[in-house]
Amino acid sequence: MTQTTSFPIFPHRHLLGIKGLTAHDLTTLIDRADANVAISRQLDKKKTSMRGRTQINLFFENSTRTQSSFELAGKRLGADVMNMAVSHSSVKKGETLIDTAMTLNAMHPDILVIRHKSGGAAALLAQKVSCSVVNAGDGAHEHPTQALLDALTIRRAKGRIDGLTVAICGDILHSRVARSNILSLNALGARVRAVAPTTLLPNEIDNMSVDVFTNMQEGIKDADVVMMLRLQRERMSGAFIPSVREYFRFFGLDKQKLGLAKKDCIVMHPGPINRGVEIASDIADGPQSVIHTQVEMGVAVRMAVIEALLDPRRSEGENQ
Ligand code: CP
Repeated sequence: MTQTTSFPIFPHRHLLGIKGLTAHDLTTLIDRADANVAISRQLDKKKTSMRGRTQINLFFENSTRTQSSFELAGKRLGADVMNMAVSHSSVKKGETLIDTAMTLNAMHPDILVIRHKSGGAAALLAQKVSCSVVNAGDGAHEHPTQALLDALTIRRAKGRIDGLTVAICGDILHSRVARSNILSLNALGARVRAVAPTTLLPNEIDNMSVDVFTNMQEGIKDADVVMMLRLQRERMSGAFIPSVREYFRFFGLDKQKLGLAKKDCIVMHPGPINRGVEIASDIADGPQSVIHTQVEMGVAVRMAVIEALLDPRRSEGENQ
């Protein structure tokens, strides 16, 4: 069974970021993903639309959610999926990113999913290989499938995205999740707030079409959605916060602060969570949290992205 013909053709060969996608492109992927949710919930989770296709996951950075959901997504579509174990690969012998990618490309994959610590790595690869490339997170640049799964989660919880107030809170400076979400949510008509201490806001924040708040209480007041971000200490080279304790006091999401948002506000977090750093445990596990739904939507979104990029209706031979 394939559902490819019931959705508009996605007009891009790669998914390198949300930047450059239209609201129609985003909606095409989100609609496709929505239709995939039921497949993961049924006993037989297998489709055949990608039978015969080869997917390689190339993760140069650690991942729990993204890598496993790309793997499951490919397998549920019937593709042959290979997870490249970078820690055991010739990268450890000094092989460059491009040489690794060109070696894998010679094995004729149809799609390459890459996560890398450097912004622009996925785009660089896309210029070199002959298959489709999906950016699974590149440095502090973009994480497009996270933004898509977040959009799907919001739409299913609220019935719409247009007109909602979404407060993105925390370490925006180092966050590819924030960048992709700001682009996606703006394109889909949400009012986006960036809530962070000034040390964790990027210089270009004033040009990102968001309302900026450096006070958490003001930033989440009357929000429909509060999206918390992980404090990315591994990307910090200096002192961005006085202490974790201080950070939680002023920018951690707890019951008292969440009480300022709308009563039916949902709480999101891309994971991994730092409990007691950016979010209190009782909020992460509480009734307003949709964190596990986000993970579930991740598989549906990645299935949609793979199917859209390898849609057989696209020009013959393009993905060969
Ligand atoms: N949200 C996210 O990208 O999680 P992982 O780092 O576990 O893939």
